[in-house]
Amino acid sequence: MSIELVSASVTGDAVQIARQDGRTMVFPAIWLRDNCRCSACRHANGQRLFEITDLPRDLALQQASIQDGRLRLVWTPDDHISEFEASWLAAHELGGELRAARREQPVLWDRSLIDALPAADWNLLRNDPAVELGWLDKYAAYGFGLLRNVPAETGMVEVVGNHLGFVRVTNYGSLFDVISVPKPNNLAYTAVGLGVHSDNPYREPTPGVQLLHCLESNAPGGDTLLVDGFHAAEVLRRENPAGFELLTQLPLRFRFRDAKTDLQAEAPLIGLDFDGAVKEIHFNNRSADILDAPVDLVAPWYAAYRNFAEILKRPEMELVFRLGPGDLVVMMNERALHGRTAFDPSLGRRHLQGCYIDKDGIESRRRVLRRQLGLSKDLAA
Ligand code: OGA
Ligand code: ZN
Ligand code: ZN
Repeated sequence: MSIELVSASVTGDAVQIARQDGRTMVFPAIWLRDNCRCSACRHANGQRLFEITDLPRDLALQQASIQDGRLRLVWTPDDHISEFEASWLAAHELGGELRAARREQPVLWDRSLIDALPAADWNLLRNDPAVELGWLDKYAAYGFGLLRNVPAETGMVEVVGNHLGFVRVTNYGSLFDVISVPKPNNLAYTAVGLGVHSDNPYREPTPGVQLLHCLESNAPGGDTLLVDGFHAAEVLRRENPAGFELLTQLPLRFRFRDAKTDLQAEAPLIGLDFDGAVKEIHFNNRSADILDAPVDLVAPWYAAYRNFAEILKRPEMELVFRLGPGDLVVMMNERALHGRTAFDPSLGRRHLQGCYIDKDGIESRRRVLRRQLGLSKDLAA
């Protein structure tokens, strides 16, 4: 639906724009000037050519009008002219609900998602941008996605990681083998069950995305567990607001040590953004370090922590499925918490390979695919 602008007027430090549909849009003058689209203000590549300190201190609007369907502004004291398309203005409105509606909402899930796991065939996906974008849209909504028929060959996890984004090298290498070994530096490399967790919260930044690729799985047990950490956090927020608040405030230190490494980082278990939406979960029993907090907050924090852990263990929250050779799961590490059931290495083999990529790379890939498929605007928009 195209938006038509009817009239514009300056009131104080803002511009009011009347639309044909009866609505009024309001934009602060300084914001409009900072976002001027003209070729003196923006390079053709979309980057800004001036600094905030380059703008006149006494910058003000002389005039606002609608010309040829566009908002036209004349500034004083420098007589600069800015023009804005109606569609651009409508897409960037600053009203509270409009900002909320623009934000990408996670689709919270529980065990019932088992009947509609977000999955795609690797061979189809890598040859068809529409299939890949469809899969990335689901990954963005649910915080994870499965790829089927990834050749069960060593190193393929890194190939997929570098297709979707950029593999991050860590002390475990660019990829790691999840296999039961005699002297493990990490419980992941044993046959014990692992409660759901985010990987490596002892890293700064914590890995944004984890990939796990199954090469072999004929040992009994070793099923994959996935829980939507954002959903669990919303349950805690509803059932125990004070506990939720504490987990968003008090940071916990995480730590990993072996012969060559001593990694430490801290984060609250539940991270919020400016608008109070859950942004990231850091939850890892194995690497949670010693809580260093004001003494009167320790017991309340533990009560909230236990409460959150109990929610994460509710059977209705948990997806349980089995990765077979060729299956690869891509997870937002700070949202889709993963774990496994114990397995018996004396009765069969189980071998996964994993790697990490950053969140920004895979998000960028999704936007670029949208652009390639004509679903979003060009560079300068
Ligand atoms: C890990 C892990 C899960 C599995 O290596 O971090 O959680 O299924 N492994 O073995
Ligand atoms: Zn300009
Ligand atoms: Zn893990």
